[in-house]
This record gives sequence, C-alpha cells and structure tokens, in this order.
Amino acid sequence: MNHADTMNDEGQTGGGKRGEMIVVCGAKGGIGKTAMAVNLAVALTKKNIHIGLLDGDLQFGDVALALDLHPTFTIKDVAPDIETMDRYALAGFLIHHSSGVKALAAPDRPEFADLIKPSVIERVCDLMLAQLDYLIVDTGAGLPESTLQFIEKADQIFVVTTLEMTAIKNTKLMLDTLELLGYRDKTQLVVNRATMESVIKAPDVPEILGFESAMYIPNEPQLVAQSLNVGIPFVSNQAKSEVAKAIFKMAEQLISRREISVFKPRHGSFLQQLFHKTSKSTT
Ligand SMILES: Nc1ncnc2c1ncn2[C@@H]1O[C@H](COP(=O)(O)OP(=O)(O)OP(=O)(O)O)[C@@H](O)[C@H]1O
Ligand SMILES: [Mg+2]
Repeated sequence: MNHADTMNDEGQTGGGKRGEMIVVCGAKGGIGKTAMAVNLAVALTKKNIHIGLLDGDLQFGDVALALDLHPTFTIKDVAPDIETMDRYALAGFLIHHSSGVKALAAPDRPEFADLIKPSVIERVCDLMLAQLDYLIVDTGAGLPESTLQFIEKADQIFVVTTLEMTAIKNTKLMLDTLELLGYRDKTQLVVNRATMESVIKAPDVPEILGFESAMYIPNEPQLVAQSLNVGIPFVSNQAKSEVAKAIFKMAEQLISRREISVFKPRHGSFLQQLFHKTSKSTT
C-alpha cells in the first residue's frame, strides 16, 4: 500500500507520513538544476513509487520542455481556485509523463509568476505530497521568496554547484544563508559537472564550502544538452552513461534512507509480530 493513502486532503498526516519533498536549488543560473531535478524524478519512478515534479522556477521554468510535455494547464490555472481545491481536483492539472512522473508546469509567461502567491505554493505542495511518495521541486537561480518557501517546506535541499569560481563563491553565500536560517541539517551539496577541467578540483569542494561530503555528477556536455534539447531524460535512454549512473545512485540513496523509516512494513514482519505476541503473553 502506498503510505500516502492514509493521509487527508490537506496532506497532513493522519497517523502516516506525507511524501518527502526535495528541493533542487542553486546560487546561479545554468548550473544543472533542471537537468538534475528532471532526471532524479524519472530515476525514482524506476523504483515503483509515486513521483511528482513541480516546476518552481516560476518565471522561466522549463521542466515541461525538458520532458517534452505540452501542458494544457500550469500552476497559474490552479491559483484562482486554490482555496477550495482538493487533491482530486489538483490531479486534473498534473501532466502525466510516460515515465510515470506527474508534473505541474510553471506559468508560461514570466509576468504570471506574481499570481503564484505563498498560499498557492503552500497548498499545491501539501496536496501533491498527500498523493505522492516524493515531490521534487526544481527552482530558478538564487533565493527569491518562492524558493525560500519551497526550502522551508522541504525535507531535503539539494544545493547544486559546479567547479567554476563564481559558482563556488555564490554557493558559499547561499549555504551561509541557509545555515543562518537553520536549514543546515537538511542541506546536501551536489557538485555537478564534477569531472570538468578546472582550477578547483571536485574532491576539494566540500571542504571549501564547509561540508563533510557531497554528491558528484560527472560532466557529459553533449549527452546532457541533447537530452534537454529533445526532452528525453538521459536516465531513460542513456541509462548506462556515467551521468545517469550518478543520478540512479542518488535515487538509490534517497530511497534506502527512507525505506528504513517509512517504507518498512507497518506492523513489522510476521515473525516480529509473533515474537511480540509471545513475549506479551509470557509477561
Ligand atoms: N552533468 C552535466 N554535464 C554536462 N553539462 C551539463 C550537466 N548538467 C547540466 N549541463 C548543461 O548545463 C546547462 C544548464 O543546465 P540546466 O538547464 O539544467 O541548468 P539550470 O541550473 O536549471 O539553469 P537555469 O538556472 O537557467 O534554470 C545545459 O546546457 C546542460 O546541458
Ligand atoms: Mg532550470
């Protein structure tokens, strides 16, 4: 059974746990946030669990493009009725990708971003989390108000950087800000294009940024650019590539950590139950 079945419309836990929310963000534009968010979402579907993808880059979102989707609706269409919306109504606005990912696209014009008020973000996330195991949120560069709201709600924040000096410098500032806001414990560092030629070497990045470890995604410019251009995630059609393997590993890590706390059998195994009963009856 999907654990999300035990939740009410608001996504609040009715004894169970809501889906897990993962926000992909970064201090700079063009460092691979969308490539990572889209491929991570699709990689997670290979595990037979329910995955949602929300385009939180409200001005220039391109999740739909990256998945070759042609949305009839976007988050802008959800906004007017948000007060009365339940998860069944919201489901009608989600676009179904062939992988199984259910995506909610960003508004199709930058000026519509202002229509997505905090109350819309709040409820959309809660309603999606009520019906999904994971909600991946892609975001635009930096820390606009909407990204800060996603970050606050997130269970895990993936901060993406590359090895470029400007990326490292701005990532440091972003990580400092997240720490000041009290989000250090849920922040993970991701070094994208980690195998690219650079003065800064990938293994040194965690120390430079004050982290113990990081996840690494190799540099495969042609493959990733082609994937984004044609709208086919590389984890689908280039599953054996090094870059896809890195994303699968990330998905594996996410799930194995969560399996321990959520996906385990609710009442324990038959033997555990039997043992529990026996030990009760003997006391
Ligand atoms: N692992 C990688 N190896 C090589 N190139 C990559 C990799 N990841 C991303 N890229 C390239 O970087 C560019 C930007 O990628 P992407 O659109 O995912 O970045 P972004 O951070 O979402 O940008 P924006 O801030 O504009 O939304 C693309 O040309 C993409 O092909
Ligand atoms: Mg992007």
